[in-house]
Amino acid sequence: MESALTALTAHTADKHWLYENSVQNPEAEVVFIDRVYGDEFGRLPRDLREDFCGTLNLGCMWAKLRNDNTALGVDLDGPTLDWGREHNMRPLGEATSRVTMIQDDVRNVSQPTVDVLAATNFSWWGFHTRDELLAYFRNCRRSLREDGMLMLDIYGGPEAQVLQFEERECDGFTYIWDQDVFNPLTHEYRCKIHFRFPDGSKLDDAFAYHWRLWTAPETRELLREAGFRKVEVFWEGADDEGEPNGDFQVSKVGDTSPAWVAYIVAFR
Ligand SMILES: C[S@@+](CC[C@H](N)C(=O)[O-])C[C@H]1O[C@@H](n2cnc3c(N)ncnc32)[C@H](O)[C@@H]1O
Repeated sequence: MESALTALTAHTADKHWLYENSVQNPEAEVVFIDRVYGDEFGRLPRDLREDFCGTLNLGCMWAKLRNDNTALGVDLDGPTLDWGREHNMRPLGEATSRVTMIQDDVRNVSQPTVDVLAATNFSWWGFHTRDELLAYFRNCRRSLREDGMLMLDIYGGPEAQVLQFEERECDGFTYIWDQDVFNPLTHEYRCKIHFRFPDGSKLDDAFAYHWRLWTAPETRELLREAGFRKVEVFWEGADDEGEPNGDFQVSKVGDTSPAWVAYIVAFR
């Protein structure tokens, strides 16, 4: 839609477009899914479900990847799904017939079963209690075929618990991640996304999240309790300067980075 040459402002920019172009990386995630699934099961996965799919960006990328891939997206929010239908599904052409959206709570959907269930950008942190998260993980397992895997992302490190703004320059706008509230006793976590533009205009509170900041050990234990036979963490490597390099490999140990993002993969 907007090109790098269009001067974006708070009035002209579309918040879903801004989100997709600052937060998401579906191109890398479909490659990751193929690699991890292929290593475990010796074949490529075909049917993917994206929970908390929002605009179904990952699902649409998945349907485009191979001409027998299918994608199912589940999200509560009708207008966000509509945006995805218009901007991500429609341009797929023939592949649109292999993409389905369901407007519902992710805990209510378990059919059709799929090879891969992805819940990314920490959306599963919307479940605040152990019981809620366990019930969600049980439903994920129910929604997978025998050769099935669940992929979650998670972040942590001491900086995750610090109230701060983190700014990142994107093409034509600035993305601002706002860690607004953190309660160390409950891990209640409120974060927001704002955008700023070259003309000085701002889109404040474009997105707001009310989460619990779950830790890796809690999450792994709950996945095992939900019945998953194997749970692995994929930790990101570093380049020569020590910066994250986008290469996620299975690891039993992390490192003490101030902030990190990892994938947790649970095999049914
Ligand atoms: C952070 S966005 C995630 C969008 C996308 N998955 C991504 O990777 O960026 C969170 C989405 O989760 C949806 N959501 C929150 N709770 C939900 C639930 N229980 N069932 C279905 N969707 C839910 C919201 O409507 C919102 O679109």
